[in-house]
Amino acid sequence: MSKVDVVLGTFYGDEGKGKIIDYLGGKADVALRATGGNNAGHSIEVDGVKYVFHLIPSGILNKGSLAIIGNGVVIDPKVLIEEINSLKEKGKDISLLRISTKAHVIFPYHIEMDKMLEENRGSGKIGTTARGIGPCYCDKYERCGIRIEDLYSDGFYDLLKRNIENKNKIFGLYNYPPLDVDKIYKEYLEYASVIKEYVCDTTTLIHRLIKEDKKIICEGAQATLLDIDFGSYPYVTSSNPTIGGIITGSGINAHDIGEVYGVMKAYSSRVGAGPYVTEQDNKIGDMIRELGHEYGATTKRPRRCGYLDLVALKYAVLVNGITALCMNHLDTIGKLDTIKLCVAYERDGEKTTEFTTNEEELNRSLPVYEEFKGNFGDVSKIRKREDLPVNALKYIKRIEEYVGVPIKFIGVGAGREEMIYEKKLVKRR
Ligand code: IMO
Ligand code: MG
Repeated sequence: MSKVDVVLGTFYGDEGKGKIIDYLGGKADVALRATGGNNAGHSIEVDGVKYVFHLIPSGILNKGSLAIIGNGVVIDPKVLIEEINSLKEKGKDISLLRISTKAHVIFPYHIEMDKMLEENRGSGKIGTTARGIGPCYCDKYERCGIRIEDLYSDGFYDLLKRNIENKNKIFGLYNYPPLDVDKIYKEYLEYASVIKEYVCDTTTLIHRLIKEDKKIICEGAQATLLDIDFGSYPYVTSSNPTIGGIITGSGINAHDIGEVYGVMKAYSSRVGAGPYVTEQDNKIGDMIRELGHEYGATTKRPRRCGYLDLVALKYAVLVNGITALCMNHLDTIGKLDTIKLCVAYERDGEKTTEFTTNEEELNRSLPVYEEFKGNFGDVSKIRKREDLPVNALKYIKRIEEYVGVPIKFIGVGAGREEMIYEKKLVKRR
């Protein structure tokens, strides 16, 4: 029986999960996505070709690897088909893609609703990706959602009609134009026929694969502080990108989980609104954004940037049971003269090292920093941790000491090979 290794984001997304997944995926038989939708954007560069994945697990790039989209994912079939076609155009085989019958489907009314709700939030805007993610998960929990398997059922038309009629009433209240049932029905029947060959009961499949001792890597999307329960609510996504979401979004059980890799950057970033204690809304933040190319893969928005927050990182380690950390962009942070590391929050005259998800408390929290020397020089060719400059090592050791988890992967450049990998450091539970 094999164990499922999981890759998760520790902060507000865009930690470079794709790069770690790409590295680990080379050794796996199966790549799995269990949460989120096409709000995710995972970029990978292979042999000079850039791939951006939104829905399909990026492990599909590995020859012979099964790529499973689990029940917890919300699927916009139009985007899925575009992704399939774009991979085919690049000569990739996608016959090993599998899509859960139970995954919920994003319809145009979800996307319209996402935009409409956001427009009406006034100063409380979340800054969603406007992909219909939140409204689709709402329907799932309201129990009127349409799943992949419903697309093939005789009741599909009636189900869709009921949904659109109800949504049109709401659109009417907001002076939004109504949507046409027949047009959407025809469009989605077409999508359904294109993806039919990939649809199956993925939960049964996954358990068969575990029994056959196949190595499965689960590709997390979004991140801990965007989690609907454990993130900075309401500035979060509408799902559980943390470890629990991986379980409910795929059907694996807690015993099936092996390593939990927490991906982080040597600094931090956030897209969209919400509290951000270590944000540098100044020249330092601008510098990190430019040096780290911090612009969204999904929405192209400039990311808010700041120093690494160990209070938040420690929280992510606890919530997810992270067994090893993967730190990207050591090269980027090493270009600063001085690097700051947040080791506590000061709030209402008191110091704390415990994270809070309360918005007002977060907004009142001031970062307490320790300073480190930067100017690491060119680290991109370094492949052994001990060969790193002493200033870089001091920074890394402080992070590990603080959170109590080893940093197994260190990204030293954007390229696939620009990585330091330390197998022996892994702490087993
Ligand atoms: P990856 O997988 C960064 C953010 C959005 C917004 C909030 C809610 O690439 O790390 P949503 O459209 O999900 O309802 O938006 O969540 N967000 C992300 N930020 N990376 C992501 O995914 C994100 N997915 C959602 O910017 O603030
Ligand atoms: Mg992203």
